[in-house]
Amino acid sequence: MGRQPPIYNAEEREQLRAACRFNAQMMDFIRPHIVPGVTTGQIDQMVYEYTLDHGHIPACLHYSGPPGAPPYPKSTCISVNDIVCHGIPGDRVLQEGDIANVDMTTIVDGWHGDQSETFLLGEVSPEAKRLVQTTFDAMWLGIHAIRPYGKIRDIGSAIYAFARERGYEVVREFQGHGVGRSFHQEPGVPHFWFRGTKAGAQVVRPGVCFTIEPMLNQGTWRTRIDKFDGWTVRTADGKLSAQFEHQILMTDEGPEVLTLTQNGPQEGHQF
Ligand code: MF3
Ligand code: CO
Ligand code: CO
Repeated sequence: MGRQPPIYNAEEREQLRAACRFNAQMMDFIRPHIVPGVTTGQIDQMVYEYTLDHGHIPACLHYSGPPGAPPYPKSTCISVNDIVCHGIPGDRVLQEGDIANVDMTTIVDGWHGDQSETFLLGEVSPEAKRLVQTTFDAMWLGIHAIRPYGKIRDIGSAIYAFARERGYEVVREFQGHGVGRSFHQEPGVPHFWFRGTKAGAQVVRPGVCFTIEPMLNQGTWRTRIDKFDGWTVRTADGKLSAQFEHQILMTDEGPEVLTLTQNGPQEGHQF
């Protein structure tokens, strides 16, 4: 990652919009399939085929991970219950009462579109629903906290205060990120901030593209990476975690959300 994020021009912004439009359309396509009884591997396969059928590339497939981890083996991340992120789709059957985050990223003509939603499988506990609602609201609060020429930490400080007020913790090891021609680039977007710390002072200029993707936990913010697959991230205490993600383009007018869906939860939605 370079120190300064790329500033995208009008033509590049159109490419970003197109990539995100496709990715959002794919989220709408997959939505009716996320029901109790389906396996995470079946969902992944549908996303893989949908992406290829439209002539695009699943960004996660074969994406190189942290040193020592094998390349990512699937097209999506599906993170159920205590899985925070990077859940690898497979034989797991989604059950009534689960909460499952589906995170998908497409490369469209060389440009990335990245987003995720947490789905409620049938009737879930009031505790799980409240966590999902708070995470969704926290994402939108983060989106509205950032203005052109504002600071990156405006996002995390808003999200963190809101989450803590409602009794949740915010994951620290995984953040939002700049996105464009590459999947992960400057700026890093922490979803927390502590008063008096220097982090997050970077200015968000018009033309910068990034994600906001807070992960909120019922218990500790600490996480553990699966020793065997090198990817799956779980809460250290086994309690629930939820996440939502949108891709944002900063413009002169304010943040433009590029990954809005037609049928998914819109801002203000009550789960
Ligand atoms: N989509 C994830 C994000 O929001 C990244 C997944 S990387 C993978 O940044 F390799 F695990 F797929
Ligand atoms: Co992302
Ligand atoms: Co993502």
